[in-house]
Amino acid sequence: MHEDYYLKPNVMIEPLVDGWYAWAHLIPPATAARNLTERHLRIMDSYIESPETHQAAVKNPALLGGPFMDLEGDRVEQVKGLRERTLEERSRLIHLSRSIEKLDALLREKAAGYSLEALYAEVPACLQGYVELVYDLNNHPAFRLIEPLLYKSPFYDDSMQSVMLSEISGDDRPFVLSTPRLDKGNSVEVRAPFASTSLDTLFRMKREPCTLAEIRDALGLDAGGEQRFRSFLTTEKPRPYERYDGDGARWRYFGHACILLETRDLSILLDPVLSYTYESDISRYTYEDLPEKIDYVLITHNHQDHILFETLLQLRHRIRNIVVPRNGGGALQDPSLKLLLKQCGFQNVIEVSEMEEIPFDRGSITAVPFLGEHGDLNVLTKSAYLLRVDNHSLIFAADSCNISPKMYEHIHAVLGDVDVLFLGMECDGAPMSWIYGPLLTQRIERPKDHSRRLAGSNFERAIALVNEFRCKEVYVYAMGQEPWLNYVMSIKYTEKSNPIIQSDRLIEVCRSRGIVAERLFGEKEILLP
Ligand SMILES: [Fe+2]
Ligand SMILES: [Fe+2]
Repeated sequence: MHEDYYLKPNVMIEPLVDGWYAWAHLIPPATAARNLTERHLRIMDSYIESPETHQAAVKNPALLGGPFMDLEGDRVEQVKGLRERTLEERSRLIHLSRSIEKLDALLREKAAGYSLEALYAEVPACLQGYVELVYDLNNHPAFRLIEPLLYKSPFYDDSMQSVMLSEISGDDRPFVLSTPRLDKGNSVEVRAPFASTSLDTLFRMKREPCTLAEIRDALGLDAGGEQRFRSFLTTEKPRPYERYDGDGARWRYFGHACILLETRDLSILLDPVLSYTYESDISRYTYEDLPEKIDYVLITHNHQDHILFETLLQLRHRIRNIVVPRNGGGALQDPSLKLLLKQCGFQNVIEVSEMEEIPFDRGSITAVPFLGEHGDLNVLTKSAYLLRVDNHSLIFAADSCNISPKMYEHIHAVLGDVDVLFLGMECDGAPMSWIYGPLLTQRIERPKDHSRRLAGSNFERAIALVNEFRCKEVYVYAMGQEPWLNYVMSIKYTEKSNPIIQSDRLIEVCRSRGIVAERLFGEKEILLP
């Protein structure tokens, strides 16, 4: 009881909202409400009606990432229970979702270019005071949400939040956007809001010891929970982390778009998505390969494979500053990451605008405009980052799609050449509705939806970037190929997949010109002199 314990390095900690895996659209009240009615309830209804269809669909690679529950065995009764609970306890959010539909309909019917003032009285009651009605310069009506007030309203209910602890021993996890996390009898659910500091006490235990009594009290575990929780603990000290101690810098690839750049006195972590530590054939860096404190975490954009709550929450107590792109100010599809993170207990959230710079001792971070990959929706919350360290320059472009090469000419004129380019080339991309569908209140026709893809740069667009910045090294990353990230991705490529063909071509052309080029997978380490 008085012995010191650590959390085992393979203890997985899944943040949940009402039993569903917490991703960034499940936190802001308005996007949460829409996902609840248009994603979760629909999938639950469909599963209850025909669980066989779901079981067959999740085995079909062509339907990967589709609206199908990946549950072992017959879970109809459990899903029915979750559905009943949702309908009973979340009536307020269901009402909010329906009110957003009504507001959209009201604007379509009555906002014809004349003053909008008279329409305020007709805004559905529960949205009154939380919206401003506006036109663009061409008389197209829209509303903007006053997000800070919505977080303070009864619509933001952090009693929906919890974290689920269990042990993980392999890369297999179901795709989280369409499968709720049901208890399998081997997990402990801690009911605490994400902002709770007791979670930091828990997460610290991966590196700092704690007694059983201390952590039991912090988490408020009951006898049954405590029994199971004990199996997650170990007295074995974690492997110590050796910081980079050279005169230059070092970057390490952790998978997808997650890269750690370190100098002797500074650490920067981009788009943190981390694997737990367990036996595997694919070598990788994990949670154990991070410095005690991370000076800057940089988030490129609000897609679930780039802002991952599961990783971020566990690192919260180690993050000094977290840098996010500024949002557009109230559009339903563009919630503020700053507000969202602050609501979830993050301190020192720094919001950056396009071309804004954050200087530090031996260099700087510059937010670089990021176009495309968002289905042509007006989403401002996206940024590439240029890092300068001593005389090195590296640009992390994530899923930036070079749909306007002229923009990069202008950027190059301001920022100059860049040594190293990191670029995602997921150039087919899902249709816009894959992420944003639940936010639409009117059906979009299939051909339109399929023309507006969440797609990154193809060969032509990528090589234009390489040429513009006169890069000496090019790394294709953010391809979603690490198997431990399947649960937030939905892509499995073969040699014949277009993104592989396009990125192979980029690598070949770059190499033929003497440019170092590689598609990253698993892990990689590079030292900068
Ligand atoms: Fe993306
Ligand atoms: Fe991505």
